[in-house]
Amino acid sequence: NKRQPFYGNEQSGIITPQQANVALVAFDVLATDRTSLKTMFKTLNDRIAFLMHGGTVPQRDAKYPPMDSGIMGPVIEPDNLTITVSVGASLFDQRFGLSHLKPRQLKKMTRFANDALQSEYCHGDILLQICANSPDTTLHALRDIIKHCPGSLAVRWRRDGFISAHAAASAGQQTPINLLGFKDGTVNPPGNDHQVQRQMLWVQPGADEPQWAVGGSYQAVRLIRFYVEHWDRTPLQEQQTIFGRNRDTGAPLGMRHEHDDPDYASDPHGKRIPMDAHMRLANPRTPDFPKYLLLRRGYSYSYTTSASGQLDVGLLFIAYQSDLDKGFIDTQNRLNGEPLEEYIKPFGGGYFFALPGVKSPNHYLGQTLL
Ligand code: HEM
Repeated sequence: NKRQPFYGNEQSGIITPQQANVALVAFDVLATDRTSLKTMFKTLNDRIAFLMHGGTVPQRDAKYPPMDSGIMGPVIEPDNLTITVSVGASLFDQRFGLSHLKPRQLKKMTRFANDALQSEYCHGDILLQICANSPDTTLHALRDIIKHCPGSLAVRWRRDGFISAHAAASAGQQTPINLLGFKDGTVNPPGNDHQVQRQMLWVQPGADEPQWAVGGSYQAVRLIRFYVEHWDRTPLQEQQTIFGRNRDTGAPLGMRHEHDDPDYASDPHGKRIPMDAHMRLANPRTPDFPKYLLLRRGYSYSYTTSASGQLDVGLLFIAYQSDLDKGFIDTQNRLNGEPLEEYIKPFGGGYFFALPGVKSPNHYLGQTLL
């Protein structure tokens, strides 16, 4: 029953060790002016502060709908809940007069070569990344927020996800295994390396960004379907060269341990780790590239089946960085055409900006923007 902090310079749910479950929900804002937008952010602030802290749900006269869905009982436990709030580029259109405050790199996600984007799974004014130990906690939180913001928020799309239970229980010590069977998240900035985080994760004072954005982070979201029937009939050797890693240990090919350096200098022509292996394209580790370009916080999803009986499973790719162009966009451009594309199909997502944290109970979420 761990409790994550709601107050701080940055929001929880970004460097927080990954909880087992996520609900990723994009909303359209229905509020039509700045005052109602402010009211919406204040309501969101109060609901999230309560839900993350936990406590007794107030009783109400039975003549009215109850204050709470009741699915967690009369006392809400924190359950390691984090609700991370991000805004999309569309929030900065003409509706609220905020266009001059848009984070400089925030834009509408456009299609990459292998994408088959479905508009019903793309973009949004607001995105909530709701993470917790159990899926009933994330659903409870979502229903609570929807109930309290009836005139101001409308769900646009939603996908739920999970990581392997043993990885979640290890609180960041073990790397989750994705639905292609590979450890995913090995090369990620360690949660306690504050210098790396300052450099690549959070917008810093003095950055070429509006002042209010300090302490925020760009968030790239990609909903990516996996063709697992095809993958499961692919030789292991080929699976491993596609990523550049051993499936079971997670070690770079030719190395022994998961966190061993791939040592590309000793393999300049890609005999051991092919030049077009996913990890090598994603980060060639030449002098031009720092070791960490983005923080990945991916979750698996498993929904239903297609009309022809194929499993609808894949990855909710979520990445945070202070520089969206150098982080996600340049990395994805290097990955375009990679051999992995035969097995994956990105169909949704968008670019968002995770708001700075709420410093104390005297402040509220989004206050520096509004
Ligand atoms: C590394 C899987 C999409 C960026 C990896 C690794 C795996 C993996 C297994 C190696 C282990 C690790 O370091 O975590 C996948 C799958 C994807 C996917 C299955 C979706 C189909 C992406 C996308 C990006 C990305 C869209 C960013 C544009 C990276 C980066 C690394 C990495 C930066 C670390 C490279 C290094 O420094 O060695 N990915 N990935 N991945 N991936 Fe992905």
